[in-house]
Amino acid sequence: MEGGGGSPMLLVLAAQLYAVYSQSPLPLVVNTWPFHSATQAAWKVLSSGGSPLDAVEKGCAQCEVEQCDGTVGYGGSPDESGETTLDAMIMNGNTMKVGAVANLRRIKNAIGVARAVMEHTKHTFLVGESASLFAESMGFVCEDLTTNRSLSIYSKWLDQQCQPNFRTNVTPNPEKSCGPYKPLKPLPESKTTSIQKKVDLRSHDTIGMIAVDRSGFVATGTSTNGASHKIPGRVGDSPMIGAGSYADSSVGGAAATGDGDTMMRFLPSYQAVENMRMGADPTTACQKAIARIQKHVPVFFGAIICANRTGSYGAACSKAPGFTQFRYSVYKPGRSQPLEEMVDCL
Ligand SMILES: *[C@@H]1O[C@H](CO)[C@@H](O)[C@H](O)[C@H]1NC(C)=O
Ligand SMILES: *[C@@H]1O[C@H](CO)[C@@H](O)[C@H](O)[C@H]1NC(C)=O
Repeated sequence: MEGGGGSPMLLVLAAQLYAVYSQSPLPLVVNTWPFHSATQAAWKVLSSGGSPLDAVEKGCAQCEVEQCDGTVGYGGSPDESGETTLDAMIMNGNTMKVGAVANLRRIKNAIGVARAVMEHTKHTFLVGESASLFAESMGFVCEDLTTNRSLSIYSKWLDQQCQPNFRTNVTPNPEKSCGPYKPLKPLPESKTTSIQKKVDLRSHDTIGMIAVDRSGFVATGTSTNGASHKIPGRVGDSPMIGAGSYADSSVGGAAATGDGDTMMRFLPSYQAVENMRMGADPTTACQKAIARIQKHVPVFFGAIICANRTGSYGAACSKAPGFTQFRYSVYKPGRSQPLEEMVDCL
């Protein structure tokens, strides 16, 4: 064959490759809630060839700076003593390594500290005052996390007799008064759940993020300032591996948000990834993880996002008073800005 016999074939191959590439849903960023600038920050890293770990770190850090809804970063969700503390985690789905911090004090960049735990220690999870000292030693700046906003939330709460709070079975009656509280005899176990008050959405959200690069490398992360008026020392689901998020590049990733005290008991992110491993598409995997919790706790406030390693994604949420739809943010090829997606709760 004379001159360039392979060319047509190469052209066909190139055309096929182009078709695959242009339809490829990777890279992908998905995060809880319409925190679009976080999505954008993560996308900027991924679309310029950066790693999904950097994308998740930058994306969640964007929320820490912007104080997304007052539920991430400094100046939000003051605890019973008025202090803001932070929880975060980051997971590498290639190596299955995790860095996590909880009850972090005086440091704004919680997910950065989580990353430092992963990269500069052989540990996985650091908490409290000691985590702050570690962060400082790694060069993170110590700052007061209190702002006028968190102070005003706190003083309003004091003015309304510390309502709402997370105490039960104590005296004085925690539904009427502030502490200090003393324990009462435990009440007999009752199967009926207490009537859920209307959800204050802003007291529970978290940024949870999944990033997948073109090679199917999956990373996930979370960052939050926890529940408003929590008891000092309380750790939510966000920094807990398998609860707040989970990543496995051979399958996909998931991240959860909502009532962490309930959700963490069921490791919903781990559950969702395992559902995908067993063949579920991301939406079904998310729905099954929510349904598993609902079997035990029929009414709770929570949502979860799922994505698989080939770039399909979905979400599910649990209906609670004041919460019937869940919005989340997605960035994928072919878009010039984050896409807001919505799902009806189960
Ligand atoms: C916080 O409140 C104080 C006193 O009301 C005020 O002087 C200060 O400017 C406020 N700071 C910010 C950042 O708004
Ligand atoms: C991801 O989910 C989509 C949609 O269900 C499915 O077609 C695809 O095979 C899944 N990818 C993997 C790696 O399981």
